[in-house]
Amino acid sequence: MTNVVKVAESDVADPSLAGEGQRLIDWAAREMPVLRIIRERFARERPLEGLRLGACLHVTSETANLAITLKAGGAHVSLCASNPLSTQDAVAAALSRQHGIPTFAVKGEDSARYYAHIQSVLDARPQVTMDDGADLVAELHKGRRELLEDVIAGTEETTTGVVRLRAMARDGALRFPIIAVNEALTKHLFDNRYGTGQSTIDGLIRATNVLLAGKTFVVCGYGWCGRGLASRATGLGAHVIVTEVDPTRALEAVMDGYRVMPLAEAAPNADIVITVTGDINVIDRGAIERFKDGAIIANSGHFNDEINLAAIDDLSVEVTAPRTFVQSHRLRDGRTIHVLAEGRLLNLAAAEGHPAAVMDMSFANQALCAEHIAKHHKDLALAVHDVPQDIDREVARLKLQAMGVSIDTLTDEQQKYLASWESGTT
Ligand code: NAI
Repeated sequence: MTNVVKVAESDVADPSLAGEGQRLIDWAAREMPVLRIIRERFARERPLEGLRLGACLHVTSETANLAITLKAGGAHVSLCASNPLSTQDAVAAALSRQHGIPTFAVKGEDSARYYAHIQSVLDARPQVTMDDGADLVAELHKGRRELLEDVIAGTEETTTGVVRLRAMARDGALRFPIIAVNEALTKHLFDNRYGTGQSTIDGLIRATNVLLAGKTFVVCGYGWCGRGLASRATGLGAHVIVTEVDPTRALEAVMDGYRVMPLAEAAPNADIVITVTGDINVIDRGAIERFKDGAIIANSGHFNDEINLAAIDDLSVEVTAPRTFVQSHRLRDGRTIHVLAEGRLLNLAAAEGHPAAVMDMSFANQALCAEHIAKHHKDLALAVHDVPQDIDREVARLKLQAMGVSIDTLTDEQQKYLASWESGTT
């Protein structure tokens, strides 16, 4: 297999923004000590030497630090956006101009350009894929099957991507193994919960400047993201209502202190409704018809299909844009409903996505999984795999170390005790 592949030039909004982008990348790097340790080791050991790596990720300052780490490890990285609205144009410029990483991402790109950018990454004939939502892997399997023979494995960043890839594996459609980075404890316990929780509120406030204290705030979905969002909204004084379809998650929300009810019941009183489910049409016509005048609705789940936008359009007589990420729909019955960021993930469209300190762990997992693939791909069965436990624990250990937190260690006696069954009640 040759590693010499001609890679297209980048497609970024404005290459002259590279200086600003580099400052953002450096700022994020301050909060990414685990990735820095990995980058320094990668630069010495070059575990990814010559590997062609195609990445479809949100093009943010944190992702730039990952791409630079992978390159330091010897990989030929090409990068495209995993969402049309999440790209930080200055960062894209810096990656392409200052780091020589072919980058295909323009904030606000239309669907045709979004998919053309994925094709540009595929043109570099990736041997390893790194996806956030599985669009890269899906395009590869749907239209570029001639490239499959080069691919040794891939990684997936988010819940929705893992769900899609497991569906592909179930259907027998998946043609190379995937490591589901989202499933690492050091990923979803922190990134999905604290990252999405904080940054979704950040996006909401930047888009609207709304006061949360005293508002009725509905969180649809009480998974990892929903738990974080509900707790952060509560912290700002909102009255949080949770909607769920899973009885265990609903029960957990009740015992965590939230009111739980169907969306149709919550809708008439809701000031703000945010979906984080990974599901389709969670806010459907029925709920839209019941929202009160002035309700704000948004999504922080991966795809922009959690809100039935077509139904809102159908009910609208006029759409105005009072602020950059706000579309105000005046409905036939006179009510107005405000939709944020075209229903795309609010935290990345209207804010900057997760803070670097939490992406440090997610992307440390990504970098170490890429190394694992380079070393062990021959042993990986054709399936969607969890992140190896030693990687997950190593990321936690390094993060604690970087935070200056030390913990106890098991004594020999305790290790023996915990591994035995003989001793019971004394
Ligand atoms: P999860 O699987 O832990 O939780 C999703 C929850 O939504 C589940 O409890 C499920 O029962 C519930 N749900 C499904 N359909 C529903 C419906 N119709 N009404 C109410 N609840 C419903 O998933 P997680 O990790 O919380 O991720 C949620 C979404 O957010 C995914 O699309 C994921 O890819 C995305 N995500 C977005 C991030 C961001 O930066 N905005 C970061 C991480 C994940």
